[in-house]
Amino acid sequence: MSEKQTILITGGAGFVGSWLVDKFISKNDVNVIIVDDLSTGSTNNLPQVHNDRWTFIKCDINNYREISAVMLAFRFDYVFHYAAVVGVQRTLDNPSAVLKDIEGLKNILDLSKNTGVKRIFYSSSSEVYGEPVEMPQNEKTTPLNSRLPYAVVKNLGEVMLRTYQSEYGLNYTIFRLFNTYGPRQSPDFVISKFISKALAGEDVTIYGDGNQTRTFCFIEDHILATFSAYEGNQFINDVVNIGNDVQINVVELAQTIIKQTNSNSKIKYLPALPDGDMQRRQPDVTNMIGLMNRTFTPLEKGLEKTILSLPRH
Ligand SMILES: NC(=O)c1ccc[n+]([C@@H]2O[C@H](COP(=O)([O-])OP(=O)(O)OC[C@H]3O[C@@H](n4cnc5c(N)ncnc54)[C@H](O)[C@@H]3O)[C@@H](O)[C@H]2O)c1
Repeated sequence: MSEKQTILITGGAGFVGSWLVDKFISKNDVNVIIVDDLSTGSTNNLPQVHNDRWTFIKCDINNYREISAVMLAFRFDYVFHYAAVVGVQRTLDNPSAVLKDIEGLKNILDLSKNTGVKRIFYSSSSEVYGEPVEMPQNEKTTPLNSRLPYAVVKNLGEVMLRTYQSEYGLNYTIFRLFNTYGPRQSPDFVISKFISKALAGEDVTIYGDGNQTRTFCFIEDHILATFSAYEGNQFINDVVNIGNDVQINVVELAQTIIKQTNSNSKIKYLPALPDGDMQRRQPDVTNMIGLMNRTFTPLEKGLEKTILSLPRH
């Protein structure tokens, strides 16, 4: 892409969004507008360098008046929509706030179609697959079994993108994000939580017997793949899993983190969560590997970088 592009990143003060911001502003040919209501994000995640490549605007995208003022003031070439209520416990505790995110996506879609946005990139979730019926989970063949509000909302979001494409010609790319980890992730998520506990020498708590397996994608791999879909004009009006397919069970994960942090923490088992704790998830990563054009960062390497980014108590 040769001309200067104007990019909107919603949720850009959050974990994934802020990494995407960093990736874009490392290029010369962009003007990045970051919007975020700072509900779970933080201005600490914004770029440390101040230059004319990025601007932060505090804004609730679910409020039409607020987001329309931004989207009508700039003419965005591309929109990365990452703002959402996230986190298993937070989404279970606040289902009506989760449903409200439908309004936010509708605002973004209406404003995008009316202002000539060339493509919208949507952060869907592996949760749309629900309790797995086939492994690995493939973008085209695996049925979507979503049941919980967060997952159903992400699934509806995908339907809305397809509808705006077929009725209004607004192009999209859907990223089905599997667990991602790395520096700046909030301590609500399993890896950042385990690392914080291990660094503080506190018990690392596991729900259930810990035999549930997970796959974890390092944020640098995630951003490489998503940026490549943008830059290489790939997966237009299509869906791609963003994740890593190497499985590890939660007990092994806790043990690895305790060892890598040289911690004396003990593992403590709590009753299984009643809802929202899938036994297994594993993406089909054929498309993801094609986008990265390299192998995955090994878990130990990604953990090392994440541990180094966190304060030791
Ligand atoms: N990190 C993962 O492993 C993962 C997995 C699946 C899906 N996702 C999706 O990726 C996206 C980013 O997640 P994350 O892990 O970076 O979480 P995050 O909480 O760090 O980022 C979300 C950001 O959106 C902002 N936000 C929330 N509601 C908003 C609103 N109404 N208006 C403006 N800003 C708002 C928050 O303040 C936060 O900065 C989300 O859409 C999430 O559903 C992430």
